[in-house]
Amino acid sequence: MCGIIARIGHGDAAETLLSGLENLEYRGYDSAGIAVQNGSGVKVHKCSGEVDDLKSSLESQPHGNMGIGHTRWSTHGPPTDANAHPHTDTAGDVAVVHNGVIDNYDELRAELQAKGHEFESDTDTEVIPHLIDEYRTETGDSEEAVRRAVETLEGSYAIAAIVDGEEAVYAARKGSPLVLGLDDEEWFLASDVPAFLDHTDEVIYLEDGDIVVLDPDSYRITDLEGTPLDRSTDTVDWDPEDAGKGEYDHYMLKEINNQPTSLSNTIEGRIDDGDVALEELPAGTFEDVETVQFVACGTSYHAAMYGANLLRSAGISTEVVRASEYTSMSGPVDEGTLVVAVTQSGETADTLEAVREATARGARSLAVTNVVGSTAAREADDAIYIRAGPEVGVAATKTFSSQAVTLALLTQRLAADVPTATPAEDRETMLEELKELPEHVERVLETTDAESLARDTVDSKSYFFIGNGLGHSVALEGALKFKEITYEHAEGFAAGELKHGPLALVTDETPVFAVATGSGDGKTKTNAIEAQTRGAPIVAVSPDDHPLTDVAEVHLSIPDTHPVWAGLLANVQLQLVSYHAADLLERPIDKPRNLAKSVTVE
Ligand code: M6R
Repeated sequence: MCGIIARIGHGDAAETLLSGLENLEYRGYDSAGIAVQNGSGVKVHKCSGEVDDLKSSLESQPHGNMGIGHTRWSTHGPPTDANAHPHTDTAGDVAVVHNGVIDNYDELRAELQAKGHEFESDTDTEVIPHLIDEYRTETGDSEEAVRRAVETLEGSYAIAAIVDGEEAVYAARKGSPLVLGLDDEEWFLASDVPAFLDHTDEVIYLEDGDIVVLDPDSYRITDLEGTPLDRSTDTVDWDPEDAGKGEYDHYMLKEINNQPTSLSNTIEGRIDDGDVALEELPAGTFEDVETVQFVACGTSYHAAMYGANLLRSAGISTEVVRASEYTSMSGPVDEGTLVVAVTQSGETADTLEAVREATARGARSLAVTNVVGSTAAREADDAIYIRAGPEVGVAATKTFSSQAVTLALLTQRLAADVPTATPAEDRETMLEELKELPEHVERVLETTDAESLARDTVDSKSYFFIGNGLGHSVALEGALKFKEITYEHAEGFAAGELKHGPLALVTDETPVFAVATGSGDGKTKTNAIEAQTRGAPIVAVSPDDHPLTDVAEVHLSIPDTHPVWAGLLANVQLQLVSYHAADLLERPIDKPRNLAKSVTVE
């Protein structure tokens, strides 16, 4: 969790740091801070609260051509002013921002305190500037001190540091993302590209063990021994506009409305002559695969359920495991197992750990991710990108639909490659219908009644979402979205499960959203009627002439399409219901309490 940024160049750094932090706030928003160097001491400004609070706490913009910044999601110590980053050594000469977790901070802190270092926060991070200071005293060389400090640390980190009187930014990474941005007149380091996308699209994705030294005119990357490394430069194809809110009140609404475009990008060039054409995964890639294990968390888990359902229909033995449960819940793994990590950010610690364990047990790995150069993409044997573009709202929306479509395409590749599988007979029709999906989403967005429905139901006690098969994963996703941004109680169920317990909670104050996909909807209808008999208002999310509409009090319409895609249209309606309900309740939609977009701790 947490977002870090650093900038060095000519001219003041503070404004760039603050706007960069705003673009990183999706990574954490319970405190923020910057430190700048202006030749007369390192000046630290930090406070609990959001970047906006930090900006209003600054009487004037601090001067200095280099600096570091941080936006925090607390792990060690509550979100107080003292625990906000940057942290410094006792004299305040070395300032550090950090994303990650230092496992051996307790013992390091005790050792440093015994040597006279004074600590001011509860954080694990604070040991880092003290260590750098300690090693500077020993070696007289800040770069060497940073190197020794990171060698002493156990855990995960992306760090950036500045030192009083030195025209340099020092940085290092292990297990937490760090990207170097290269502009003509300035260099940047950040946890993610949107932090500096307004300035440059030329980047270097740093690797674990890299040490970086930036001065105003050059940059150097070395390994832990000081050997220079040659890292390749990439050009990011995201538009700076993609990282902004545009005409919308919230990123979430922008991203829901962006789905016709993001889905077109996901599909583009991947259907050829009635078949799937995946450049990254050509025919024959999976000939040796016998079973598939999906690992994922949250929304990505629901997309993985969607994909697993399709793979099972193709006759491929498939398991979906919540990544955080992998150690205790996964089935047998061997060389015939393909572990598929579904992760928007590519940085979710639980998911990365599950993949590492599966590969250690012999599995081959594939990352399905949105972020080029992410840890998942780099560590997995293969990667396929969902191409949804940057998603800033903490609630995942457009990435869910792009993940599900990418997994459906992947299913076709696996079904063709795996010897025991049976490719879908109606593959051509299904792929033809996929080409129509962006237009169908457009229609949902133009005609939706989600806002008035949200207004009519917003005082309810609880919200239930049911569906069968593919509709089950959409029901779970609908409920997750609803609770995450409205703070109201919402649960998703396989339709048939309602009567095995949850029905006890159903009253006339618990609307039940019934998701139709055109396959297995009979169960959903029967169970919706059972809930209705107990007083629950039923909302059918279905095509117009669907049998569910005979039962439901309210109808959210979706265009007729192939059953594989119908659930994704229903999901857009549910995203909109959640959004409007949260808006009516005046919730901080893009930054729900206690959450962060990229969960880089286990
Ligand atoms: O980046 P990932 O897809 O691995 O993130 C996994 C979950 O943390 C994420 O999907 C989360 O559940 C969503 N932000 C919920 O909207």
